[in-house]
Amino acid sequence: MLKMEGVQKIYRTDLVQTHALRSLSLEVEEGEFVAVTGPSGSGKTTFLNIAGLLETFDGGRYTLDGKDVSRLSDRERSKIRNVKIGFIFQSFNLIPDLNVYDNVDVPLRYRGLASGERDRRIKEALERVGLASRLKHLPSQLSGGQQQRVAIARALAGSPRILFADEPTGNLDSLMAREVMNMLEEINAQGTTIVMVTHDPELARRMHRNIHIMDGQASDFEDRSDAPVDRIAPRAAAAAPAVG
Ligand SMILES: Nc1ncnc2c1ncn2[C@@H]1O[C@H](COP(=O)(O)OP(=O)(O)O)[C@@H](O)[C@H]1O
Ligand SMILES: [Mg+2]
Repeated sequence: MLKMEGVQKIYRTDLVQTHALRSLSLEVEEGEFVAVTGPSGSGKTTFLNIAGLLETFDGGRYTLDGKDVSRLSDRERSKIRNVKIGFIFQSFNLIPDLNVYDNVDVPLRYRGLASGERDRRIKEALERVGLASRLKHLPSQLSGGQQQRVAIARALAGSPRILFADEPTGNLDSLMAREVMNMLEEINAQGTTIVMVTHDPELARRMHRNIHIMDGQASDFEDRSDAPVDRIAPRAAAAAPAVG
């Protein structure tokens, strides 16, 4: 599903160069639910942003869903991103003066989908995260856990093949964090590949595999084959036809 070989990213300012990724090589298989862990500043967010085609990189090769996406134009990148990729952030990134329904609608409008199709996707996604009765609420009228579920619905409404989450439970108490994690497990079980950065060892243990990033390199592939079988998602999605 996702393969990086020797990926490098250098942030340059007038004064300093930061090697955010030195030579990152890793692979994520279709249907996996993978945790990305590592100390602060090790390059986890940089990796996720490159993987999600939000950022470009300076060296190496990146293959996503069978296509070399190393050297694409901004336009080509955003086209793939809109159709194949969903993002969830620590800070939810909802628009404060739009209600729940309209927040989920934003990326669908951006994709230019017809209103009937958008309406169907919005309601279905909010149903999946248990917020079908909150369509008219503003983000400020919801708990943190509910806001993150709106953000998950917004990502799901685009029917992504892969979901990237950057510390999605970082702003939540442990009860809400577990609720969001349960939801992500359910989404993964229904076929969506998920790559999630987390600091929470309890959550990381629940995933199929941990990739540890250290100093801009994936230094450690921890095999989670000892995980209980019922936590391994069905690989049925691998047989499904590719969309987009
Ligand atoms: N936009 C940026 N400009 C300059 N340096 C950056 C930028 N984003 C990240 N960095 C640097 O790159 C390194 C990796 O950052 P990041 O990927 O955010 O780490 P993590 O998510 O693991 O905490 C850090 O040293 C950080 O300061
Ligand atoms: Mg980060």
